[in-house]
Amino acid sequence: KAHGNWAFVKGVPSMEFLPPLGPPEIAFAGRSNVGKSSLINALTGKNGLARTSNTPGRTQELNFFVPEGFSGAMDNLPPLAIVDMPGYGYAKAPIEMVERWTELVFEYMRGRVTLKRIFLLIDARHGVKQNDLDAMKLMDKAAMSYQLVLTKTDKIKAPAIPRMIDETLDKIKKSPAAYPEVIATSSEKSRGLDDLREAIAKAINP
Ligand code: GTP
Ligand code: MG
Repeated sequence: KAHGNWAFVKGVPSMEFLPPLGPPEIAFAGRSNVGKSSLINALTGKNGLARTSNTPGRTQELNFFVPEGFSGAMDNLPPLAIVDMPGYGYAKAPIEMVERWTELVFEYMRGRVTLKRIFLLIDARHGVKQNDLDAMKLMDKAAMSYQLVLTKTDKIKAPAIPRMIDETLDKIKKSPAAYPEVIATSSEKSRGLDDLREAIAKAINP
């Protein structure tokens, strides 16, 4: 299947380096190693676009990706920028890094009018953890629309997937900014990518 040509624009370590406002943006957030960068690669059909790794904390900046020329819809995606966020919650993260993450992400969420939705990725094997709840609280506080996405569903048995979706839906019941639908994906098996594209398109043109 043909895909548009996506390109890395820049890595943003702090607010003053944000690119000027452009097309609508969506961002991928979640615990380190949950599969954010892998899902961006699967979604854009470009392996190696976002760097993936087994080392938690690989992505340390807000990484901006855009389809080259933003020349219109590609593969059912309207023109947009995709932002890969640094992961949170890995065991060895020093407290200053946790604070830096919170500050960077919170400022970005609060100040970026073109940011339409954050997709918060949850490992289908582990479900929603305390630091995910903390991230959700932050987004609720910023009134930032977000949607939960299960990753790595190839690692669990088929009947466990709907169970995990229900369990995850249960966690967002009291979250005002959460979009009440959970998408199940696997980058490895290219599952759920069309559902995700549809959700992205809806987030951009509600
Ligand atoms: P940070 O940048 O550290 O926050 O991690 P990340 O969330 O970007 O995770 P990344 O995409 O780098 O993936 C982490 C590891 O999980 C890599 O070894 C991937 O190959 C693996 N992985 C990602 N998606 C899937 C998936 O759908 N299925 C399986 N089985 N493995 C996956
Ligand atoms: Mg990453």
